[in-house]
Amino acid sequence: MVQRQIPWAVVSRYDDVVKVLRDHQGYSSVNPLLPGTEVYDAFHEIPVMTFSDEPDHARLRRVAAPSLAVRRMENMAPEFVHLVDEILDDYWQGRREVDAVAYLAQEVPIRAFGYLLGIPKSENETLRALGVGKPREDGAFTFYDPNFMQSRAEFIHKLVQMRKGESGGQDLISLAIAAHQRDEKINDLELFGMVMVLVTGGIGTTADLISGALYQMLRRPELYQEIRADHSLVAPLLEETLRYDGPIHTLFRVTTKEVEVGGLTIPGRTPVCVVNGAADRDPRKFPNPDQFDIRRDNGDHLGFGEGIHFCVGAAPARVEARVALQRVLERFPRIRIAEGWTPKYNGNAFGRGLKTLPLILE
Ligand code: HEM
Repeated sequence: MVQRQIPWAVVSRYDDVVKVLRDHQGYSSVNPLLPGTEVYDAFHEIPVMTFSDEPDHARLRRVAAPSLAVRRMENMAPEFVHLVDEILDDYWQGRREVDAVAYLAQEVPIRAFGYLLGIPKSENETLRALGVGKPREDGAFTFYDPNFMQSRAEFIHKLVQMRKGESGGQDLISLAIAAHQRDEKINDLELFGMVMVLVTGGIGTTADLISGALYQMLRRPELYQEIRADHSLVAPLLEETLRYDGPIHTLFRVTTKEVEVGGLTIPGRTPVCVVNGAADRDPRKFPNPDQFDIRRDNGDHLGFGEGIHFCVGAAPARVEARVALQRVLERFPRIRIAEGWTPKYNGNAFGRGLKTLPLILE
């Protein structure tokens, strides 16, 4: 609703959220720089699809979307199995306790992105800083810090320049450059923004999904038994985690004109918080919404958004997370959450993810 003193609108019912996200003409995605969203200040002057409207959005998205398509990612599943196994060999094998956030959930998308972007393993630490952000003094994570921005810019520029000197590469940057050179679809700054938004948007979120799904499974012994007996249940576990407590809870838009939603009129140029996390618990859409049920009909949850900005990285996120959990179930069939641990989250205006998840490997 619109309040007089706070000129924001908050949209949280399922049908209203869908309506807003599908109406990209009435609601702009151009980075509104609202209080609480400073974490994404990094994108203030760099054009990226997430914070663009048509026609720029479609032009930028077309460059990245084919290389992240479902079939391409499913074909890469054996490669992801290999890299998850390396992580389990490096950090899990022979240990009794392991933090599944640092030593699985973050490690999987970092290494997967290294592979997708063709970045050598020696640069994994740089990729970690780019993807997971930097801890601030108050313990929260941020992508914004002038020095950090500078080193990130240099790293990405170096990568893009390197790939420009090569040809025929199948990594994401080479594919984007090839598209760029064919049709001059995007300029250098946009190409830089593309790499930045993929890395920034794709690593932390996927990590939060992997740790979140493990947590939801392990805190429910019966569910854990069931999934241990049938690993194909990992896919519905991930979808229900995305609905129930996914990595991204809130999206932002700004009205371009006077609009009507949920029976209320919102004036033009009003910032709108679109709370997809609340919509996914709307009892009108999902009966018994607070019940975690991997067998419910949750196909149209909004954990990856909706409409033209629907997550372009949904396929890599789903495949990476599925493979990670399945390999854990196969190789470490008896694990539990360490006693005394309670969930603590890194959060920002957009969403949240577990800080740690200490597991005992039996
Ligand atoms: C579980 C993991 C992920 C979640 C929960 C997630 C969530 C989302 C959501 C909710 C949106 C919609 C944003 C909006 O409408 O304003 C979105 C868009 C986007 N995501 Fe993801 N994401 C995930 C993984 C990834 C990955 C792996 C990548 C990169 C490969 C990625 C890159 C993007 C980009 C570039 C957009 C903007 C798309 C556009 O504007 O057309 N995301 N994501």
